[in-house]
Amino acid sequence: MRRQIVAGNWKMHGSRAEATQLVDSIVAGFNGGSGVDCVVCPPFVYLHEVSRQLRGTAVQLGAQDVCAEAQGAFTGEVSAAMLRDVGCQYVLVGHSERRALYGESDAAVARKFAAALARGLTPILCVGELLAERESGRTFEIIGRQLDAVMAVSDVSTLARAVIAYEPVWAIGTGLTASPEQAQDVHAFVRGRIAARDATIAAAVPLLYGGSVKAGNAAELFAKPDVDGGLIGGASLKAEEFLAICAAVPARKS
Ligand code: PGA
Repeated sequence: MRRQIVAGNWKMHGSRAEATQLVDSIVAGFNGGSGVDCVVCPPFVYLHEVSRQLRGTAVQLGAQDVCAEAQGAFTGEVSAAMLRDVGCQYVLVGHSERRALYGESDAAVARKFAAALARGLTPILCVGELLAERESGRTFEIIGRQLDAVMAVSDVSTLARAVIAYEPVWAIGTGLTASPEQAQDVHAFVRGRIAARDATIAAAVPLLYGGSVKAGNAAELFAKPDVDGGLIGGASLKAEEFLAICAAVPARKS
């Protein structure tokens, strides 16, 4: 049985008071559903406080990014050990906004993935194609390249401790969502790419879909056989909407 996960990526939104309130509401409303793992990823500065709020609850904590280096003179960066220290279990790596706005290369993302694993964090590796890449029929080529870069640095066996999120860049924050069929096609491709190296690992790795997931479209996406949950941006900032997305995860698939 694969784990099913719904993770909320808050990005750079909200205040300390709003973060606290949002977490209170999520904790109060999350009932574990059909066994789904619920994760929130607040901005770095709120992690410590949110971690305290989450203690003893079923909701888990993730960060939005991590430094590839273990420690040292890297002004402004936050290490995997620091994230663990404040109670994070997960960290996003290679989000398309990091790739596009901050120039993170496939190689840099691969190093962050390895750094997270080395400190016992579960990396949520984000992959996805641009609209122009999809329109020119290059979706699988791009996603294959992004995956291979990580597997060139970390052995395929490490994916047993990781999660992958497919987020078509054209669907992030745009209101456009991949159709359930489009999501399933790419998820099956990702699983196949990993299976070419290790079929057992491929069958077990959770694959999340992200890109304008809402309460209204979550169930049809999560119903697809290779979609094991979602990575939620905008809709994760509203407790009711986020909880409805968590509740849309179906009873466990084989
Ligand atoms: P969105 O963002 O749900 O607002 O499209 C998803 C993401 O960037 O993780």
